[in-house]
Amino acid sequence: MIGSANGTRIGITGLGVHVPERVVTNDDLAQYVDTTDEWIVDRTGIHERRMITEDQALTDIALPAARAALEDAGATPDDIDLLICATVTPDMMFPTASALMANTLGAEKAAAYDLLAGCTGFMYAIAQAYGMIAAGLSRRALVVGGDVLSSILDWTDRSTLVLFGDGAGAVVMEPVDHGGFLGFELGADGGGGVHLQYPGSGSRKFENPESMLRMNGREVYKFATRVMVSSAEAVLAECGRTIDEVDVYVPHQANKRIIDHAVGKLGVPPERTVVNVDRFGNTSSGSIPLALADARTDGRLRDGALVLMTGMGAGLTWGSALIEWTAPSASGGRG
Ligand code: UT7
Repeated sequence: MIGSANGTRIGITGLGVHVPERVVTNDDLAQYVDTTDEWIVDRTGIHERRMITEDQALTDIALPAARAALEDAGATPDDIDLLICATVTPDMMFPTASALMANTLGAEKAAAYDLLAGCTGFMYAIAQAYGMIAAGLSRRALVVGGDVLSSILDWTDRSTLVLFGDGAGAVVMEPVDHGGFLGFELGADGGGGVHLQYPGSGSRKFENPESMLRMNGREVYKFATRVMVSSAEAVLAECGRTIDEVDVYVPHQANKRIIDHAVGKLGVPPERTVVNVDRFGNTSSGSIPLALADARTDGRLRDGALVLMTGMGAGLTWGSALIEWTAPSASGGRG
């Protein structure tokens, strides 16, 4: 699926993130599996990640992110008529994390649903919110992306345990008077889905009584290096833009080697690329908003900056978005 905005200005007016307090280092994980800090840093670029404690679940970290995004947008829960939560680790399948959050926040007018698209969930969710707002169904949407993959990892499997972390981010989306999304490209290949699975997690559980994340890392790596480039190129072409015009490149934070490959192939100057996989690992649906927040902290999300985001993950799925950033005006508003 691919499309450009054709002049409809819908942007991000609020951004908030939250990660658990507990820092888990590579050496900490070496107590559970046969691995070393050197291997993990060399093959992935990850130094540490955050993980929830045993008495925490997704909404415990997603709600603070949602509240921060609302505050950043100068919006109240009452202003929100759509709440989408992209996650593969909701507190439970139902009630959905989004409905629970809408209730806790007091967003009584909001339609609320969870969206399953693996690590690409946040990209799918912002495209959906864009479509709902463009169609006139929603005026202001709260899009949350977050996962607590530590809760579904096999703590005896070194090939997956070291890669993931927990984290969440949220954005408020609404019409803006300048800037906004220029286009999206989203895709899925269920044929490759077997390479990144959570077997036993749904109604086919009779085939897999155990329920833990399983991954064929080499196959996902090949897929990732391909789609991180093809999806970004597709959305740029659709919007009539070139990579040279991109001010901030926000790739999914799965592995520093995958990011480096995409940066090289696309020809993005490394200094325009956001990297925080070293601090957070792969936070799945939290990855892109956490990286956006770091870009803003670094002062890179200036008004008018052209931002390219690309995610990929289970499904297998991928998705890119191109947006001209709308920063708050001197008066504090965005339009
Ligand atoms: O959002 C999408 C989520 N997933 C991804 O993006 C993952 C994509 N894949 C990758 O990032 C990489 O494939 C990995 C980081 C998972 C693995 O890196 P690799 O360079 O492809 O390693 P490999 O799978 O080819 O394994 C090389 C060796 C193997 O040993 P042998 O068979 O050569 O003796 C593994 O058993 O490294 C071994 N190994 C480890 N050694 C120490 C695998 N994991 C570890 C580990 N510590 N944690």
